[in-house]
Amino acid sequence: MRVDAVLVLDFGGQYCHLIARRIREKGVYSEIVPHDISSHEISAFEDSLKVKGIVLSGGPESIYAQNAPKINHAILNKELPVLGLCYGHQLLAKIYGGSVEPADKKEFGMVYALVDRPIGVLKGLKAKTRVWMSHSDTVYGVSEEFEVLAHTSNSPIAAFRHRKKPMYGIQWHPEVTHTEEGDQVFHNFLFRVCGCQANWKIESFAQRLIDELKEKIGERKAVIALSGGIDSSTVAVLGARALGGNLSAILVDHGFMRENEVQNVRRMFQGSEIDLITIDAKRRFLNRLKGVVDPEAKRRIIGEEFIKVFEEEAQKREAEFLIQGTIYPDRIESGFGKLSSKIKSHHNVAGLPKKMKFRGVVEPLANLYKDEVRQLAKNLGLLEEIVNRQPFPGPGLAVRVIGQVTEEKLEIVRKADRILNEEILNAGLEKDLWQSFAVLTETMSTGVKGDSRAYGYVIALRAVESREAMTAAFAKLPYEVLERTSSRITNEVPMMSRVVYDITNKPPATIEWE
Ligand code: XMP
Repeated sequence: MRVDAVLVLDFGGQYCHLIARRIREKGVYSEIVPHDISSHEISAFEDSLKVKGIVLSGGPESIYAQNAPKINHAILNKELPVLGLCYGHQLLAKIYGGSVEPADKKEFGMVYALVDRPIGVLKGLKAKTRVWMSHSDTVYGVSEEFEVLAHTSNSPIAAFRHRKKPMYGIQWHPEVTHTEEGDQVFHNFLFRVCGCQANWKIESFAQRLIDELKEKIGERKAVIALSGGIDSSTVAVLGARALGGNLSAILVDHGFMRENEVQNVRRMFQGSEIDLITIDAKRRFLNRLKGVVDPEAKRRIIGEEFIKVFEEEAQKREAEFLIQGTIYPDRIESGFGKLSSKIKSHHNVAGLPKKMKFRGVVEPLANLYKDEVRQLAKNLGLLEEIVNRQPFPGPGLAVRVIGQVTEEKLEIVRKADRILNEEILNAGLEKDLWQSFAVLTETMSTGVKGDSRAYGYVIALRAVESREAMTAAFAKLPYEVLERTSSRITNEVPMMSRVVYDITNKPPATIEWE
């Protein structure tokens, strides 16, 4: 069955991904597409989806900037319902002859919008509703074809609609939770304006992903990198159901795994539909990282080596395809959008060498968020232990040892990591955390052991709460838990002088240190 879908045109706004999430949460499939997508490309979606509307996202540029992202005007003639948000709102106003100017006063943060006409996407909103604003250009006038629906003290036209077409513009950000009636706006747009049915469920998505894999790979063979994390495990099950014995699931032990991790992963898949092959590649990874300190260089090298191992294994098995568990935020943070800037290259994405010996790389989860993957995994019947596993970066502990990676340092960070997570488990806190781990810093510090001065390593502990890793808050772990962890680490791990706790949120920090 083709499900209803709304496409989000990405004008580079930091909240763009939230728009797609809000739509999917309402049971309507949504995908983010480049802002300059052609009308023809939109039609191509029709093979698998019923495109019912489009949303134009916000963006960092002024519509008058030299590189201001544009829209293909033919799209606006497709008679599809359109909702422009922030930059999208200004763009629509300008295209249809309105006046958009730099504001006398920038609007940023919480503002009250006064709803003059509670109709269309604003139906059911209070007369005075709290909204989140973040803009400098402002719409001061719209052409005769439009009518004004709302204003604020600084934006005389904070929302408008076309009199004849299903076209709306809103200056604020309904996708941000600070906007109190944002949900209602999406509800109105999807179900009143676009006439969507809430017929997208992650469960029904599984079969579509399996069918797509069958279609792309056919009778040929594929390999998958299975780390035992939720993403690769889910994609491995999809792969096994699509390809049966033509899929080889390979766990590359790059030597940057946590304590007993390889054995645990093997145990988790014992007797399952996946026949897991383990490759011991510890030596070659460590050799290649000798003398490398730059985090991006580490990621790139690990990514390259990973692919080499895979190419070798694939050749042995005559596999032409590589299946990967890349998910949506990996792509966003690696800078997949034309306009969003790169934060760090996740090794399973941007670290891939340009030329690969595979006929193709397939990423079935590339449009899903972590919580959606968890839902999918549950529905596919994966073990609870896998479904609830914390995310772990592809380059593993190599990006949790700051600077030079050595066997000795890996051993230290492994032990500290195990102790922290044992204490978190004992305190029953694991369910509240997105991730909890230890980082071995490059700093040495003085301590005292027995009667003598000791000079040793500094371990940083990091525990964060998050919904999808795009933002995160440091966990307010009880002091007793931190104290027990610290005391055990300094006692049980050699060469340790000090334990510190990272109290930085994301942003401004990232979750991992490197
Ligand atoms: P950051 O550190 O960017 O991490 O806030 C966001 C989430 O992504 C994980 N992460 C990675 N995953 N390869 C991966 O597969 C990587 O290179 C990588 N770097 C970070 C991180 O653990 C967190 O969950």
